[in-house]
Amino acid sequence: MAVRCCAVLLLLLLLCVLDSASATDVADYGGVPLWINRLLGEPSVMSLQERMDAAWFRANNPQSCPIQCDCPIQWPTALYCDHRGLADMPDHLPDTTQYLFLQSNNISSLSSSLLANITALRWLILDHNQLLDLVTLQNQTQLCYLFANHNLLRSVPSVLPAGLKQLRLAHNQISSISPGAFQNLHNLTLLLLQGNQLQTITEGDLKEFNVSSFCREWGPLSYSRVKILRLEGNRMSYQQLPSDWAFCLRVLESIYI
Ligand SMILES: *[C@@H]1O[C@H](CO)[C@@H](O)[C@H](O)[C@H]1NC(C)=O
Ligand SMILES: *[C@@H]1O[C@H](CO)[C@@H](O)[C@H](O)[C@H]1NC(C)=O
Ligand SMILES: *[C@@H]1O[C@H](CO)[C@@H](O)[C@H](O)[C@H]1NC(C)=O
Ligand SMILES: *[C@@H]1O[C@H](CO)[C@@H](O)[C@H](O)[C@H]1NC(C)=O
Ligand SMILES: *[C@@H]1O[C@H](CO)[C@@H](O)[C@H](O)[C@H]1NC(C)=O
Repeated sequence: MAVRCCAVLLLLLLLCVLDSASATDVADYGGVPLWINRLLGEPSVMSLQERMDAAWFRANNPQSCPIQCDCPIQWPTALYCDHRGLADMPDHLPDTTQYLFLQSNNISSLSSSLLANITALRWLILDHNQLLDLVTLQNQTQLCYLFANHNLLRSVPSVLPAGLKQLRLAHNQISSISPGAFQNLHNLTLLLLQGNQLQTITEGDLKEFNVSSFCREWGPLSYSRVKILRLEGNRMSYQQLPSDWAFCLRVLESIYI
């Protein structure tokens, strides 16, 4: 009897584990949790799916809201347009938008003219789309979180907003990073590039990971502030790291290769 109970318990446990594993597979935001700053008014959920009644918000929130999105009353600067098979960015985005959720759609390109109208943007969440590249975002001076995990990106954009704190580009097809790509991102503390196609340089091949993308040179004040760097799932190994990487990435707390 005791044995059978145990077996049942084990099975239940296993089912729970499998269930939570599959749930996090779909929306794991690159595998590193998000720390929410409620004092800044940051929303504490990344999706309203199966959490809140969208129709209620539409009926009761006087704020203008694109038809493809949900606008919760409690986070007036957040726009939830995730999980709805959108092929394009919604238009008429309120210019007060700070948190834009577009994950799990079918978007293959961003519209720079639509984005140009929302300059207060702080988070742009684009995981699980079909993006081949990102438009120039350098005018998004408030942008601090840019997530585009699970897309079809082939390179890291060469000009990124200077205030970026987190850049999550895991599980794309990135095979090149331009020199200095991260150099001016002094607030960047988290960079996810795992599951891409980076490899250290081989002759005639551009597929490299090069410390010069973080620091072209380093000194007492010029170094990368990146603390978490994930590079596993590329064609690289720890031995291939340039010998001088520690001078540049000197505040790194964890690195995965
Ligand atoms: C996504 O877009 C592609 C082409 O752009 C299309 O073939 C596919 O059916 C779309 N998928 C969904 C779920 O809408
Ligand atoms: C941008 O904002 C201006 C002024 O509010 C508006 O006229 C224009 O249509 C907007 N552009 C887009 C692409 O939404
Ligand atoms: C960025 O802003 C400048 C000045 O407002 C403008 O000239 C430029 O076209 C903008 N770039 C993009 C990509 O929106
Ligand atoms: C970087 O962060 C600091 C402190 O939060 C802020 O004052 C500064 O403006 C940020 N840098 C950029 C380029 O946004
Ligand atoms: C890294 O990039 C710099 C600047 O582009 C280049 O001079 C150097 O040869 C590269 N290092 C390797 C190991 O490819």
